[in-house]
Amino acid sequence: MRNFTYQNRTEMIFGKDVENNVGQKLKGLAKKVLIHYGGGSVVASGLLDRIKESLNQAGVAYVELGGVKPNPKIGLVREGVALCREESVDFILAVGGGSVIDSAKAIGIGFYHEGDVWDYFIQKVSVKETLPVGVVLTIPAAGSESSNGCVITNEENEYKRSAGSKIMRPVFAFLNPELTYTLPPYQTACGIVDMFAHVLERYFTNEKGVNLTDRLCEATLKTIVEQGLAVMANPLDYNARAEIMWAGAIAHNGSLGLGRSEDWGSHMIEHEISGIYDIAHGAGLAIVFPAWMQYVHQHDLGRFVQYAEMVWGIPTEGRDEDAVARAAIEATKRFFKQLGMPISFEDGNLPTDKIEEMAEKTVENGPVGSFIKLDKGDVIRILKIAADLK
Ligand code: NZQ
Ligand code: ZN
Repeated sequence: MRNFTYQNRTEMIFGKDVENNVGQKLKGLAKKVLIHYGGGSVVASGLLDRIKESLNQAGVAYVELGGVKPNPKIGLVREGVALCREESVDFILAVGGGSVIDSAKAIGIGFYHEGDVWDYFIQKVSVKETLPVGVVLTIPAAGSESSNGCVITNEENEYKRSAGSKIMRPVFAFLNPELTYTLPPYQTACGIVDMFAHVLERYFTNEKGVNLTDRLCEATLKTIVEQGLAVMANPLDYNARAEIMWAGAIAHNGSLGLGRSEDWGSHMIEHEISGIYDIAHGAGLAIVFPAWMQYVHQHDLGRFVQYAEMVWGIPTEGRDEDAVARAAIEATKRFFKQLGMPISFEDGNLPTDKIEEMAEKTVENGPVGSFIKLDKGDVIRILKIAADLK
């Protein structure tokens, strides 16, 4: 096991109706809040009004900026930075999912940079300061509610890039599973795939002697499969919604990757797909991950056999390791299909003529991944497998 330092400052406030206390929580933390939200789901559900009411009652001043789109765009981030400066905002409250939270995080760091906020995303400058960010989460998926990064798309050149720092973890996150009842099934499914992928990126490591985190990963993966299917079957099942919401946070709060190398090759490839085609990140991952698994599994059959046995309950005794590994990849594909996710470009109705461009962009700053380092040729071969995987 490698040396590590771990600190996650996000206070998680979980359960029914918890978000009604957001005003009280902000009192003393903020003089003026930017309430940041998306394309309207929080308006339609009445959540935004309840949040404002909670701030009014606590005597916390605020301004608003809605309109965050999925795969959040740098243009609105720039607007948010200007607004925060004009209004002397000292706290950002993200009410929404990963896109809203990421946009809030980007505004928070942009506030302290005199140049263009995109500079953080091309590593021209590093993050040193941020406005504090709080969260009321409406979709369990990206894990941004307690992660240390954000992912933003530059609509001018279709680049989707991330910035990160430990100071970007939100100060608090309100997680009420009931807020997720209104999610369309497709979005619920995208979220389930994303959190599953966040664990896989950590599970497929070359590090030996990381048994505790292996078991934690396996428990989280199994929970996501069982409870994910339960949520899809009955969207109003509170307990299943709660399990999935908590799993999404655990999957990406950093604890499952401690003491080991993490991979992230599939995420890097996926960001080029959603950067160009503006599809949901979870759907892009459902397309990339099975192809990545097929491409890399022979690198460490033992790890794939462990995945087969511990996550999918596939019998391994006396069986050929490659066959067991392939059975686990099949089980992964079956799970994504059961959720209604595409597992190929063909399934997702995406063209394949930009594979070369996507591969070029993926490795622009060098090879990606760690389980196996992927160069441009590898990425092209993975995307070609993903083109029409069955
Ligand atoms: O915009 P509104 O109207 O709110 O609708 C949203 C959006 O269309 C809708 N929605 C959210 N909560 C809802 C709801 N609809 C009805 N009822 C509710 N309760 O769902 C749609 C998707 O929302 P979005 O925020 O885009 O989803 P998600 O949380 O999956 O975030 C995806 C973004 O996060 C990034 C992804 O790349 C993508 O840009 N990621 C961020 C990470 C991080 N910061 O740590 C890590 C991830 O790997 C990921 O890359
Ligand atoms: Zn993700």
